[in-house]
Amino acid sequence: MATKAATGGATPPRHVAIIMDGNGRWAKARFLPRIAGHKQGVEAVRRVSRAARALGIEVLTLYAFSSENWRRPEEEVRDLMGLLRHFLASELDELVSEGVRLRVIGDWRRLAPDLVAMIEGAIARTAANPGPTLVIALNYGAQAEIVAAARTLAEQVRDGSLDPAAIDEARFTEALETHDLPPLDLMIRTSGEQRLSNFLLWQAAYAELMFIDTLWPDFDEKTLAGALEQFGRRERRFGGL
Ligand code: FPP
Repeated sequence: MATKAATGGATPPRHVAIIMDGNGRWAKARFLPRIAGHKQGVEAVRRVSRAARALGIEVLTLYAFSSENWRRPEEEVRDLMGLLRHFLASELDELVSEGVRLRVIGDWRRLAPDLVAMIEGAIARTAANPGPTLVIALNYGAQAEIVAAARTLAEQVRDGSLDPAAIDEARFTEALETHDLPPLDLMIRTSGEQRLSNFLLWQAAYAELMFIDTLWPDFDEKTLAGALEQFGRRERRFGGL
């Protein structure tokens, strides 16, 4: 559980999601190629996942590659996949020794076969860990996730195992990829953009949204601690008074 000190005494967030934006602009400002920004972005991933653990956040969900990111130039997609391979290879031992459970959401089974095998191996090696949980969204799109959940429920209705009248919000939530994770408390987007970009749309229903100007490669322990502090000052009413 996140320490109450981190939020100034308020109930701390159990589940934090981050849209990691601004790698390209970070590189451009330094007259560097975009890949340099993504490399620094991976350093930020390392830093922030450690910081999240230290702050007691139970689940950190990171948007690493959206189902729309295939529209980027082939070379950039290749570079991002390369960084992901490198991240998995270099980080796995630490995740295992720290007791972190790795989860991947999205249509990741359609990535390159070697990457799929690496991801399967990493998930299996960390599956019995007690947590915290690091969730990486890969080839993820929230609308596709919601459509897949609707299809699952429709198939159960067709099989006769589900009564349409039994479909409610809880049942729908059960059919999503995130069904076994705590509710999303805080969604952060870096780099000043104010969009959800098809990330965790269902799960964000009651999440606090935070748009931070910092570019992702500059995001660090202090930025995360500041976000938690601000979260602690927000009044969450979940539709009540
Ligand atoms: C957005 O910056 C960032 C991405 C599309 C990719 C995020 C990926 C990483 C941080 C590295 C890989 C992740 C892991 C978990 C190893 P942008 O390129 O859209 O920036 P811009 O808007 O400034 O161009």
